[in-house]
Amino acid sequence: MSSQRVVIIGGSSGIGLATAAHLLEKDYRVTITGRDKAKLQAAAQSLDGDLTAIAMDAADLAGLPAAFEAIGPFDHLVLALGGGNGAGPFATVDLADVRRGFERKTMAHFACAQACLPYLSKQGSITFVSAVSAQAAMPGTAGLGAINAAIAALAPILAVELKPIRVNCVSPGVVDTPWWDFTAERRKQTFAGFAARTPVGRVGNPGEIAEAIAFLIGNGFTSGHTLICDGGIRLGQ
Ligand SMILES: NC(=O)c1ccc[n+]([C@@H]2O[C@H](COP(=O)([O-])OP(=O)(O)OC[C@H]3O[C@@H](n4cnc5c(N)ncnc54)[C@H](OP(=O)(O)O)[C@@H]3O)[C@@H](O)[C@H]2O)c1
Repeated sequence: MSSQRVVIIGGSSGIGLATAAHLLEKDYRVTITGRDKAKLQAAAQSLDGDLTAIAMDAADLAGLPAAFEAIGPFDHLVLALGGGNGAGPFATVDLADVRRGFERKTMAHFACAQACLPYLSKQGSITFVSAVSAQAAMPGTAGLGAINAAIAALAPILAVELKPIRVNCVSPGVVDTPWWDFTAERRKQTFAGFAARTPVGRVGNPGEIAEAIAFLIGNGFTSGHTLICDGGIRLGQ
């Protein structure tokens, strides 16, 4: 039975919420965070186990030291936050939106990993959630790919610089979560299109990414690794 504590930044929805549920089943102690207090509260009520929920904005870099002080000591950090800023065809993508994407995802991940260090166990781990746009060559994802490749680049560097803390990254493919804030019809069509291009023939569900994250947290001999969990979409077909 695990009594280790995991902090999930972006734990009130999608991949982070599924990871919280999966880890609570494995008897980890879990803290979830998010900006929207009502969403965070609803997420907390949907979960069973040793759970705390703390509202914070991970993109408010100046506020992060105080936010981690309020969280206190823990064993594993999961960075599952991020929105969809930076998507669009390279020739016309809005540069201000790409910049927002870097600020809201890359910088937030970078700064959380730095600010947590006084509270993170040396026997623990950091797991970044990047995206397969960092490995695939999909038109329309130059911004997203750059944002997420920068995050994936951190794992091997920090695995060495922060040793013995293990640092890894999960790179999900297309996963059915509220990140895709489309109408039901557009969502259905979009997912059908991605499913047709994915070797396993479907999009993923957040529980599958949670399993990959739980592996990286639990396996004490894996560090500096990016685990691609994408149904094979990066391979193209
Ligand atoms: N879904 C996919 O197909 C997919 C594929 C590849 C990679 N990813 C990546 O996986 C990560 C999680 O995505 P998801 O699909 O689980 O999205 P989601 O369902 O929208 O969940 C995002 C979570 O992050 C929180 N969050 C966002 N900005 C935050 C901030 N500044 N500070 C604190 N919390 C913040 C959100 O809560 P609040 O809004 O209340 O803050 C929410 O809990 C993202 O980085 C995304 O890029 C997703």
